[in-house]
Amino acid sequence: MAAAPAARFPVFGLVRLLGLAAAAAIVVWAVHFRGGMALSSETDKLLIFNVHPVLMLIGLVVLNGEAILAYKTVPGTKKLKKLVHLALQFLAMLLSLIGLWTVWKFHDERQIDHLYTLHSWLGLACIIFFSLQWATGFYTFWYPGGSRSGRASLLPWHVFFGLFLYVLAIATSVSGLLEKSIFMQSAKMIGRFSTEAMFMNSLGMLLVLLGALVILAVVTPGVGKIDTYRGSSE
Ligand code: HEM
Repeated sequence: MAAAPAARFPVFGLVRLLGLAAAAAIVVWAVHFRGGMALSSETDKLLIFNVHPVLMLIGLVVLNGEAILAYKTVPGTKKLKKLVHLALQFLAMLLSLIGLWTVWKFHDERQIDHLYTLHSWLGLACIIFFSLQWATGFYTFWYPGGSRSGRASLLPWHVFFGLFLYVLAIATSVSGLLEKSIFMQSAKMIGRFSTEAMFMNSLGMLLVLLGALVILAVVTPGVGKIDTYRGSSE
């Protein structure tokens, strides 16, 4: 098999920068373009919806990306790297569950059907498998911890599913942005070439670029290693 490409630029710094830019952009979108966020509202139910994309994107894309790279970016012992990895992933999972609850509540309060779009199917699969991946990882690699051979055989699958779910989170977010933009254009809330529509398209492009860089940062040789399992203290 061909060797993995070696990044000759500060790929980890760039991932952090683009992740922060994506997080800022979704907050700007919710607050500046969509009028803000709320966990409950009698007058404007859309404010409840607006929490959904913000928590999903910051959780399953930005924090997830940072957590995936923790083994390469966090200095210190393997145990500390692992702790940062699982803590960030826990936060990502928590945010995604709250984000799911808000969009569910919005649908209930506006009497909109649940789970009728491709985005919602992708999203539900993403949240269910992300939670399963976290629980399995916690049980096997942290507490109570599986046998040495059990851990060694699970690790490659954990890495594979982790990357797969990250890509799925990007695809789900892009489909969510697309869907929301088209909904708003059909309802004549925004124009096809409006600043908001262009902003949402640009955010989608930014997410795709961020995804490519996270994958490059994972495969690039050099700093850290997640491809072997080297004992219970690691
Ligand atoms: C990984 C990130 C995301 C996940 C896992 C996810 C998941 C979901 C799920 C499960 C639903 C269905 C709720 C229901 O049927 O009651 C939903 C709805 C929705 N989401 Fe997301 N979402 C994500 C990101 C986004 C983003 C970034 C946007 C951008 C605005 C968005 C926009 C929407 C919209 C408009 C709906 C309502 C229509 C529908 O059910 O498809 N989502 N999402």
